[in-house]
Parts: sequence; C-alpha cells; structure tokens
Amino acid sequence: MSRQKAEGKFLQTLAGTRFPTPPVWLMRQAGRYLPEYRAIRATTKSFLEFCYTPDKAIEVTLQPIRRFGFDAAIIFSDILVVPDALGQKVWFEEGEGPKLEALTDPSQFGRLSRARIVDHLAPVYEAIRQTRAALPPETALLGFAGAPFTLACYMIEGSGSRDFAKVKSWAYGHPESFALLIDLLVEAVVDHLAYQVEAGVDGVQLFDSWAGVLPEEQLFHWSLDPMVRIAKGLRERHPKIPIIAFPRAVGPAMLMYRRPETFSALSIDTGIGAHWAAKELQPHICLQGNLDPIMLVAGGQVMEREATRILDKLGHGPFVFNLGHGVVPQTPPENVAHLVEIVHNWKPGTS
Ligand code: CP3
Repeated sequence: MSRQKAEGKFLQTLAGTRFPTPPVWLMRQAGRYLPEYRAIRATTKSFLEFCYTPDKAIEVTLQPIRRFGFDAAIIFSDILVVPDALGQKVWFEEGEGPKLEALTDPSQFGRLSRARIVDHLAPVYEAIRQTRAALPPETALLGFAGAPFTLACYMIEGSGSRDFAKVKSWAYGHPESFALLIDLLVEAVVDHLAYQVEAGVDGVQLFDSWAGVLPEEQLFHWSLDPMVRIAKGLRERHPKIPIIAFPRAVGPAMLMYRRPETFSALSIDTGIGAHWAAKELQPHICLQGNLDPIMLVAGGQVMEREATRILDKLGHGPFVFNLGHGVVPQTPPENVAHLVEIVHNWKPGTS
C-alpha cells in the first residue's frame, strides 16, 4: 500500500492549494550534470542494467534531492523500459542514445507481450518502494511513462530521428495497424503506471516528447486520445492518483489538453509563452514549467531575469516551477542551486 497522499507542497499544489512560492523540481534532475551521478553510472556499462539495479536507481534518484531539496523526486528509470519489457530489443550506445530493433511490419506486434511487464520491471517497482521509504514525507515521489506516440516513435524509427518520417508514414498511411500498436501501448502504460502507484509513487507524469511533430488532427488521434485513455484506465485502478501530462512542442494545440477532469496538471515546454499560458490555460488547470534548459546552462542574471519573468506570470498559481524540457549534461550544478534559490526567494508582485 502506498502511504497517505497530499503531504507536502508539490502534492498540495496539484490538489489546488496555493503557496506564497511554488514548489520546484526539474525534469531529468538526476543525470550526467551531477559528478556523483557520473561516478555511480561508471560502475555499470549497460544503461538498462543500471536502471534495473535498485540500489543504484535509488541512490541517483535521491542525489538531486539531497543537493537541492526539490519538492518532488522522479524515480530513476527511462521511458524505453516499456518496449524493453514488451520484448523489443532495446540498447543504449555511448554518445548516441537509444537504439531499438525497429518494428517494420504489424506481423511483429504479436511478439510484444504486456504479460512480461510485472516481472521484467520488478526492479523498478522495488526501487520505488525503497525510495519512497527513504524520502522525507514532504518530498513527493513521481513515477512516469512515455506516452504511446513517443514510444511508437522509438519503436518504429529504431532510434531518435530528425523527421520521424517512418513513424509518421505508418500512422498516416496505415492508421488501422498503427492503432493496434497504440492500443497495445495504452494498455502497457496503464499497467506500468498502476504498478508504480502500487509500489508507492505519489503521482505520475506522461511524457509525449515528440507529440509536436504531428499536425493537429493527427495529434488528437495519436497523442491526446491515447493519453486520455491512459488517464481513465489508471484512475479506474487508482482513482485519486495525480497525473501530469507533457505533450511537448504542440504550441496552441495545448488547448486540447486543457482537461482538468482528466489531467491534474499540464507541463508546458519552453515554446509556450508564459503570458498566453496564464491567460488560456492556468485559469482551468495547474501548470508546470517552463524555463529553457539552456537558461540553466547560461546561469547568472539572464537566468534570474527569465525565471523571475515566468514566476511573475505564473507563480500566483496553481503552478509548479520546472524546465520546459530536461536538464542537459553541460549544466553547471551551481546554477541549479541558484535557480532553486530564485524560486524560494521570489516575491509575488502585482503583475
Ligand atoms: O531524472 C529524471 O528525470 C529521471 C530519469 C529519466 C531518464 N530518462 C534518465 C536517462 C527520465 C524521466 C527519462 C525520460 C525519457 N527518456 C524521455 C522523455 C523526456 C524527454 O527528455 O523528452 C525520453 C525521450 C527518453 C529516451 C532517452 N533515454 C533518450 C533519448 C536518451 C539519450 C539521450 C541522453 O540524454 O543521453 C536516454 C538515456 C538516458 N535516460 C540518460 C538518463 C540519465 C542518459 C544515459 C546515461 O546516463 O548513460
């Protein structure tokens, strides 16, 4: 059983409470910009094996919490553990990112099986159990998954891509068979998120990192609709679990995702204007975001000005301070400490 919820600033914010300053955590807050991460990462060659070693996953989840006192931790894992658990070959090449044995034909879908998730990802759930026990009660623990379209991108392209031509050609040219894959992923992601909740996460985030490559109508079919089905499926099993949706780079189509009855918050990327978001989204739904990760590399006054501008527009709430995308490896850790100070010291003005 997971413990009693809505302790701490992050969960209370998602539940609608406003604080003088917003809670803060950062996507990819555990990772290569931290020397203590690099040290422990160097002890395991394979990235997936590293993810599946609870002691190591727990330690790197806790590292940024110890250093910066974020209001939320995110369990150390990856979105590609789902295709790996389904039975697709996944590996990570040094300096190149993820590689998968690409799906080229719907006849290959039969090899993918949801039944493997619970055993294959047991180390992730064990890491969640122990991380929850190790965290201070006021620090929320987030679980996560890739949304079906983003997972399909990797599964069909076989890696990252510049134009996502293979996955898009499949979705546009053969929508019936593409829908079979999306349906399988909806079910797999509901299972994976439900097991994370049962292991103790206090909320979950759905990353649709590549949603922005789709035109509007396709976006509805392949990004929004599957995310809504996942939220409904998860809430059938765990009615109160907070769900944050991150459809990245969709621009004003973000309005389609403005569904407070389905999502607890929307994570906005750097391309979404804070002024527009304050007017069009925030009156309806809690927002999270959206400092440019490269501002965190630049640091100093330029970062301070930009973070303050976002806080002045959105900080009155309901709001969770975050980046518009993940922390990049070249980020100086001292800039992260400075950013957290800026958020903590922000004084709501009249704007
Ligand atoms: O701190 C955290 O946010 C938790 C851990 C986390 C990782 N990946 C660890 C990781 C999370 C939430 C993710 C999500 C993820 N993974 C996404 C969605 C978010 C986004 O960035 O859009 C995506 C698209 C992936 C797929 C993925 N994993 C890629 C493209 C890469 C290679 C790029 C890179 O940063 O190297 C990974 C590898 C990966 N996942 C690393 C980490 C810390 C780096 C590998 C290493 O340390 O050896």
